[in-house]
Amino acid sequence: MAVSEEDVLVALRTVNDPDLQRDLVSLNMIRDLKIGDNGEVSLTVMLTTPACPLKAQIESDVKAAVTRVAGVKKVLVNMGANVTSTLRPQDLATGVRNIIGVASGKGGVGKSTVSVNLAIALAQSGARVGLLDADIYGPNIPLMLGVTEEQPQLTVRTDAQGNEIEMMIPVEKHGLKIMSMGFLVGEDTPVIWRGPMLNSALKQFLGQVDWGELDYLVVDLPPGTGDVQISLIQLVKITGIVHVTTPQAVAVQDVRKGIMMFESQKVPLLGIVENMSYFISPKSGERTDIFGTGGGENVARIYGIPFLGQIPLEPPIREGGDSGVPVVIGHPNSESVQRFRQIAEQLAAQVSVQNFTQAEREPSPIRS
Ligand SMILES: Nc1ncnc2c1ncn2[C@@H]1O[C@H](COP(=O)(O)OP(=O)(O)OP(=O)(O)O)[C@@H](O)[C@H]1O
Ligand SMILES: [Mg+2]
Repeated sequence: MAVSEEDVLVALRTVNDPDLQRDLVSLNMIRDLKIGDNGEVSLTVMLTTPACPLKAQIESDVKAAVTRVAGVKKVLVNMGANVTSTLRPQDLATGVRNIIGVASGKGGVGKSTVSVNLAIALAQSGARVGLLDADIYGPNIPLMLGVTEEQPQLTVRTDAQGNEIEMMIPVEKHGLKIMSMGFLVGEDTPVIWRGPMLNSALKQFLGQVDWGELDYLVVDLPPGTGDVQISLIQLVKITGIVHVTTPQAVAVQDVRKGIMMFESQKVPLLGIVENMSYFISPKSGERTDIFGTGGGENVARIYGIPFLGQIPLEPPIREGGDSGVPVVIGHPNSESVQRFRQIAEQLAAQVSVQNFTQAEREPSPIRS
């Protein structure tokens, strides 16, 4: 019996993307559907992120659904991804599909550590990722990535109006495109910033850096809700914010303040990450909740924000930060790295959900 395309599509309509809660056919995720005379069906599932946490499940659901169609003998499923975006084409950093700010109410909770390791985990999943160190007062990213001696090269590009503009080429390391004030001022030079200077520095980092095509630009912010945060959200439409906190009450109280600021500016909150959540003794394997536990999850529940996960306190995380070889590269099998990978997937899924719900709400189409 010949298999028709219609039969296969009917079967595929029973498979949902669990994050977007819509079937794969209506989501236009089925591509290159081919049906051979011998009952062999091949197709590509185009996900909204290569870091999709449910990739394996979707693949097996698709296989099972198509296999059930009468006459089908063999199913070949290719998994692809095309990261969605709701950033406007007229925005700065035109080739960047999503801008994700990493924020915290309090200093020293691990924003830079989380930014670096999540960015690398996203890149390892196959996404094109940039990391912008927007901690203009105290840039740590060059040290954490082992690129303190590097400097961005300059190039000249022609913009849409035919004007020549000088652009900086980001430094590349560990699969990331990186830009930091640290490259420009040197590590030990104190910089005293005034509001307008800071705004123009950030504007340059977004508009005069040749980021190329990026799926995700992770922006490591300074602590709190000061000028840098305000400038960023005024300069570009960011996809959303990830809030980092430690579990203890003070830090959690500070998260509340941060959340309220971003909410008042209509910036989506993509999720909360709880860092330094617990310590596992390398000797006994016993878990100790040094700063208490569950604080981040509580705040997430109260404000209805996704909880992306916990990261343990682990000496290799700090050593990775100091040595320029982040833990995700240096200790790929450690507990914290499993956590970083899961959090990166949850974050990527939240970005897809955010873009999807926004595109549904506003008539402008998803760029793909
Ligand atoms: N889970 C962890 N386990 C062990 N050390 C950690 C962990 N997270 C962060 N650190 C260490 O804690 C210190 C502070 O982290 P980090 O610089 O990432 O914080 P931050 O929030 O960016 O700080 P700031 O507010 O100053 O920008 C660093 O030395 C880092 O290596
Ligand atoms: Mg920092």
